[in-house]
Amino acid sequence: KIDRKVDSVLRLMTLEEKIGQLNQYTGDRDATGPITTSPNKLKDIKDGKLGSMLNIRGAKETREVQEMAMQSRMKIPLIFGLDVIHGYRVTFPIPLAEAASWDLAELENAARVAGRESAASGIHWTFAPMVDIGRDPRWGRVMEGAGEDTYLGSKIAYARVKGFQGKGLGNLDAIMACVKHFAAYGAAIAGRDYAAVDMSDHSLWEYYLPPFKAALDAGAATFMNSFNTLNGIPATGNTYLQRDILKGKWGFKGFMVSDWGSIGEMVPHGYAKDKKQAAELAIKAGSDMDMESRSYLPNLGQLVKENKVSIALIDDAVRRVLRKKFELGLFDDPYRFSNATRQEKELNSAENKKASLKMAEKSIVLLKNNNQTLPLSKSLKKIAVIGPLAKSEKDMQGFWSVSWQNDKLVSLYEGLQNKIGNQTELLYAKGCEISDTSKAGFAAAIEVAKQADVVVMAVGEAYDMSGEAKSKANIQIPGVQEDLIKAIQATGKPVVVLIMAGRPLVFNWTADNVNAIMYTWWLGSEAGNAIANVLYGDYNPAGKLPMTFPRDEGQIPIYYNYLSTGRPSQNDKDTRYRSAYLDIQNSPKYTFGYGLSYTTFDYSNLKLSKTAMAMNDKINISFTLKNTGKFDGEEVVQVYLQDMFASVVRPVKELKDFQKVMLKAGESKAINFVIDKEKLSFFNQKLQWAAEPGDFKLMIGTASDNIKLESNFALTN
Ligand code: IFM
Repeated sequence: KIDRKVDSVLRLMTLEEKIGQLNQYTGDRDATGPITTSPNKLKDIKDGKLGSMLNIRGAKETREVQEMAMQSRMKIPLIFGLDVIHGYRVTFPIPLAEAASWDLAELENAARVAGRESAASGIHWTFAPMVDIGRDPRWGRVMEGAGEDTYLGSKIAYARVKGFQGKGLGNLDAIMACVKHFAAYGAAIAGRDYAAVDMSDHSLWEYYLPPFKAALDAGAATFMNSFNTLNGIPATGNTYLQRDILKGKWGFKGFMVSDWGSIGEMVPHGYAKDKKQAAELAIKAGSDMDMESRSYLPNLGQLVKENKVSIALIDDAVRRVLRKKFELGLFDDPYRFSNATRQEKELNSAENKKASLKMAEKSIVLLKNNNQTLPLSKSLKKIAVIGPLAKSEKDMQGFWSVSWQNDKLVSLYEGLQNKIGNQTELLYAKGCEISDTSKAGFAAAIEVAKQADVVVMAVGEAYDMSGEAKSKANIQIPGVQEDLIKAIQATGKPVVVLIMAGRPLVFNWTADNVNAIMYTWWLGSEAGNAIANVLYGDYNPAGKLPMTFPRDEGQIPIYYNYLSTGRPSQNDKDTRYRSAYLDIQNSPKYTFGYGLSYTTFDYSNLKLSKTAMAMNDKINISFTLKNTGKFDGEEVVQVYLQDMFASVVRPVKELKDFQKVMLKAGESKAINFVIDKEKLSFFNQKLQWAAEPGDFKLMIGTASDNIKLESNFALTN
């Protein structure tokens, strides 16, 4: 039915109006308003030369711009898009932090809240989720994804799309997801943003594409291509990616937007001689909408006249865009999202803040807790809070957050103030800046530490140190912050270090010397309250790392599911003609899936329903999980498999399933998993998804390097 409506509109459109639908401009986000500042853009809107705008937000603002579109001849409504990456008005933890929760329901809910808030503010479309696999912490955009693992990343991609799109486009609280960046953007050489990607087809299909497919299976309305070249071809002009895989093999019916300026960037890439040729290459390759490169609007008409681009190609792209406008209900009412009353009610609500708090608690990863330093006792007399991030709000907001004036974020200091009773006194010293080299503040910090029963230190990165174009060759804790930790540790007081950052950092001294470490990432609006709840044990941490933490930058890229070598190093001391480093260990500092709890879990009694299965058979796995500690808590049970021999060398282990299980102190539960052909399949030499008969190793554990139960089984023909 929608297709008929789309065609009826398309029939009435001039070529120029069609090309207009494929054009997207930015509003001038940071200026007082786009309406007065960009007269040319506004004229283009009224002339029907614009299909979408990004960076306009607010019920009033979107309505004003939409009114201009309604002055155009065809009165085709605009789509308003925005980077709603981790929350809209209420900020959620950065996506990498959320991934540490391994909590798919909560992840979906976080996207749901963000979708609801933005929809109430006139937004139809978020440029999220980013589903790029990130195996290189030098790449600043790892903060925006779900980490290094394809299986976990695919599950999270699915959950996030479901969250943004709710019960489906057309509902007033659902916004379009935009899955990005298609494809392989996260594998930039040496972790330098926008750099080339050189990758085998096998790696592309096996590790990098599945999260995109999962997002598509969840119904993702749109995709965004990426800035990088893939094996020499810019993604934006890449027919294999966009036409053959996405729109062909996968049958994607939505539209593809270019990344900002990426069509025009094919000129500096040296792939197109000018923007006209770039436009030709991009539309042919399957890029439907031009974000801000201004290549389509001035050139597509001429290219059609010269018979270089067929009208059928233009019509296909326009149809895709119009279909989404119909699905969003914009042809029925172009202002249906721009409702000031709804906006007032939805934004920053207590319910939304509660969702952010819950997500933040679940995102925290406890890395170390010697001598049961944590949780803190409520009867402590004096707590020293030290470090440049202790009172910071902006940094805990994280990169890619929508900025609002007068909105408060709960800092660590404030969160602790909210938590402690009258009997505890909070002392504070900043100690140093995040990246300065001055140690002038150390003495005062040491004095404060000496007076306290315990010291809580807040160190890490400033909000703009991880994110787009924030690649770093050195990923140690910036500035003199680790020296500050050493100085405070020397006082002999128990020290708890909180690391607030957008990526895995290297902090070996801290890891080896202080009693307790929590990786809090950047947690968003409720950061301080969430951390205080975890510090005091009102929430028992259960986060598990979604990315491996190296002990040295020289190990990067580093990830748990590496391929076997012919000369594996059996242990870290065994370096003679082995695949090993002479100067450091192979193993990371903290591996994928690692994270502690205040309680302990015991795994026992593994049972397999059979030890050999035929192709269409299944094996039921069961075991007992027991909470053996004194606290109620959640455990993320992780199931890894290794295919022992195959036609393509397989990783030493791969995550294939997981469950997050809540157990009361002392409680036991039977946990069940099923192994079927799907879990045993991989992309074979012909790039077909298939399982091969042979032996497999099953590993069940609490982290990728802490396997508690093991067994072998076979797959037969
Ligand atoms: O969505 C982003 C993309 O991830 C990076 N370039 C700009 C786009 C729009 O802001």
